[in-house]
Amino acid sequence: MIIKRLDAPSTEGAYLCEKACLDEAWSLSDIAAMVDREDAVYLVALYGDTVCGTLGALIVLDEMQITNVATLPQFRRRGIAGELLQEALLTAKGEGCTAAFLEVETANAPAIALYQKYGFASVGLRKGFYKGKDAYIFKKQL
Ligand SMILES: CC(C)(COP(=O)(O)OP(=O)(O)OC[C@H]1O[C@@H](n2cnc3c(N)ncnc32)[C@H](O)[C@@H]1OP(=O)(O)O)[C@@H](O)C(=O)NCCC(=O)NCCS
Repeated sequence: MIIKRLDAPSTEGAYLCEKACLDEAWSLSDIAAMVDREDAVYLVALYGDTVCGTLGALIVLDEMQITNVATLPQFRRRGIAGELLQEALLTAKGEGCTAAFLEVETANAPAIALYQKYGFASVGLRKGFYKGKDAYIFKKQL
């Protein structure tokens, strides 16, 4: 398994991975647009030619906002999301970020456990953030 920045050949696989995992997956064109955005960090995990994991993030001033993390169901619990997250955090540090943020639905126990394992903690709540469902705001100081 390798982790790399999104490129044109991996765009469709990233789209399929997001679609299989996320209620609010991005469109193919939204993902394709991330390839050239200088403020975007979009990582893919590749197993052969298959995109088995994705992580999208934006850098705004000295903060990274992680917008989506997904691992295809058949590849879960093998450390893929953890590797994507660590790589994204390293990139954020390298870009001079001092903190990383994300939102996670309060009922999403696997994702909450993932983020806590890598040092994120809740700093607030967004009421109704995901189609009416509440989300924690998670932060990790870098
Ligand atoms: C959340 C998600 C990205 C985790 O991906 P993954 O590649 O399976 O995660 P990892 O294997 O790297 O797990 C790292 C840690 O996260 C936690 N974790 C992951 N899945 C878990 C689960 N189902 N139950 C409990 N803890 C879990 C564990 O602490 C795990 O470490 P461990 O295996 O040493 O116990 C994946 O379940 C997914 O795509 N879910 C649907 C999309 C989603 O909810 N994304 C997050 C939106 S905010």
